[in-house]
Amino acid sequence: MTRIVLSSDHAAIELRQAIAAHITAKGYEAVDIGPTENVSTHYPVHGKAAAERVASGDCDLGIILCGTGQGIMMAANKVKGIRCGVCSDQFSAAMIRQHNNANILSIGARVVGEGLALAIVDAFLDAEFEGGRHATRVDMIEE
Ligand code: RB5
Repeated sequence: MTRIVLSSDHAAIELRQAIAAHITAKGYEAVDIGPTENVSTHYPVHGKAAAERVASGDCDLGIILCGTGQGIMMAANKVKGIRCGVCSDQFSAAMIRQHNNANILSIGARVVGEGLALAIVDAFLDAEFEGGRHATRVDMIEE
């Protein structure tokens, strides 16, 4: 079963939990590492924690959120082996897997509503890396 780690800061707890329930219903294993208390926290901590779960191989993919999705994405991308993009639309969510082999999706909870967020998650999870010339470019990122 595909294991998907989820994390967020305080700005995205409800949306993160809705996404966890959604992907569980779709047959994925949701590894929700919180936080659960609605108190102000620091998105770099949660981005790093999720990224390390993916980079270590403990989880196959990740979904992370903060207010904009931007700060937590920046933190996650500091972990070697992580390719994370922020998406506010389904096309981008599919393309970051098809062309960039993204292993973490970031979403801004203050940017998109729940319905669109779930559709973005579906687009990300349903897409597959195309390899070929895109693999050459992804390898260049890793180097
Ligand atoms: C928290 O107020 C906010 O700055 C954070 O959730 C995120 O949007 C940062 O990128």
